[in-house]
Amino acid sequence: MTKWSPNSWRNKPILQVPAYPDPELLAEVEGRLATYPPLVFAGEARKLKKQLAAVANGEAFLLQGGDCAESFAEHGADNIRDFFRVFLQMAVVLTFAGAKPVVKVGRIAGQFAKPRSSDMETKDGVSLPSYRGDIINGIEFTETARTPDPNRQEMAYRQSAATLNLLRAFAQGGYANLENVHKWMVSSLADSPQAERYRVIADRITETMDFMRAIGITAETHPSLRETDFYTSHEALLLGYEEALTRVDSTSGDWYATSGHMLWIGDRTRQPDHAHVEYCRGVKNPIGLKCGPSLDPDTLLSLIDILNPQNEPGRLTLIARFGAEKVGDYLPKLIRAVKREGRSVVWSCDPMHGNTVSLNGFKTRPFDLILAEVRRFFEVHAAEGTYAGGIHIEMTGKNVTECTGGARAISGEDLQNRYHTHCDPRLNADQALELAFLVAELIKETSAGKPQPMVAAAAG
Ligand code: TRP
Ligand code: MN
Repeated sequence: MTKWSPNSWRNKPILQVPAYPDPELLAEVEGRLATYPPLVFAGEARKLKKQLAAVANGEAFLLQGGDCAESFAEHGADNIRDFFRVFLQMAVVLTFAGAKPVVKVGRIAGQFAKPRSSDMETKDGVSLPSYRGDIINGIEFTETARTPDPNRQEMAYRQSAATLNLLRAFAQGGYANLENVHKWMVSSLADSPQAERYRVIADRITETMDFMRAIGITAETHPSLRETDFYTSHEALLLGYEEALTRVDSTSGDWYATSGHMLWIGDRTRQPDHAHVEYCRGVKNPIGLKCGPSLDPDTLLSLIDILNPQNEPGRLTLIARFGAEKVGDYLPKLIRAVKREGRSVVWSCDPMHGNTVSLNGFKTRPFDLILAEVRRFFEVHAAEGTYAGGIHIEMTGKNVTECTGGARAISGEDLQNRYHTHCDPRLNADQALELAFLVAELIKETSAGKPQPMVAAAAG
């Protein structure tokens, strides 16, 4: 393998590249970005990797979620807070029911670039470049908006910094206090169609917290009750931006992507000899790899060789996105190959991207299919004797109508009411929580009376 450097990807074939009309301006912006402070520290990425290693060993669960694509227009404190609130509620449900730590990773503070199936979009005989995310061009169907503009990278950097700043404040400054999270849960009880289910778990959490308080364990005495570790992630798609934010960690001498804690490689850009894999192999962050129906076991194994040659637990998260109908056929082959070769990975389920359908002119996802894929994912792992380690979802804290179904059933006609996404349909707050309850049940079922993977590995 040739020597890696932050720009060695430039010598490889590459897909999904925007056609910037002004390469000089692009180089100028990238040059400026390279002088800006990193958004995350290497030490944080290492800490996340350690927590993901616990997931790989079956001792923790990964919750990863957020917007399909963040947007400049919707950058506001309310959006971030509402997202974070639902995300934490999900985390509490999963932690309590699964009795395992939940590793919390947002698709946020950098999730701006989108791969597209076609370079151009045609409307009424007019063809313009496809929208590739706010870091590249604008969503409006005009020539000005759709022309890739390098300056947007600086906007994305600044927005990511501001978002991350607020998230850090929330995570460490008291907002994530378990007593808060619990209060929200109780107050959302009243108008939730899931009231009964919430109540059972909320009551048990209340009891537990009362008990802890009685014996002197409170948020004042125990910081772990009022603080949480929250990490950021995004698809490593726009490599010029990633390269500009790639820095050497002075303590270890290793290279890290500092645009976010975890990066993932999309299903469309995971060719082993192409640029995106080349870039990711050289940075020490935890890396995700989206696995869709076109990925065969041998290619997966060669990708694992390239991306995690030392077989380091926590380095690589495989994010399965097959669709409810396909997961049962495709996932077992990949699991068996990985197991046979003794590779340590986190298996996570993305039940969103394989379940997208068109309805009334909207791209949507039926909630039933999303649930079905998650359920199947857990069943397959149970059958293979492997650990279903996490979920990866597109969600928002807002009350949008983008995915159909759920307990507060959203119909095909409802889609037009609050369809706000810049890209794919997201779960709304109710649907996201409902999914968390289902996953909590699945975690409980599969861990009941079964040997943990660590024990099994030690015995074998
Ligand atoms: N620190 C623990 C954790 O992050 C407990 C915790 C505090 C927590 N606030 C939380 C868990 C909010 C979930 C959500 O797991
Ligand atoms: Mn998406």
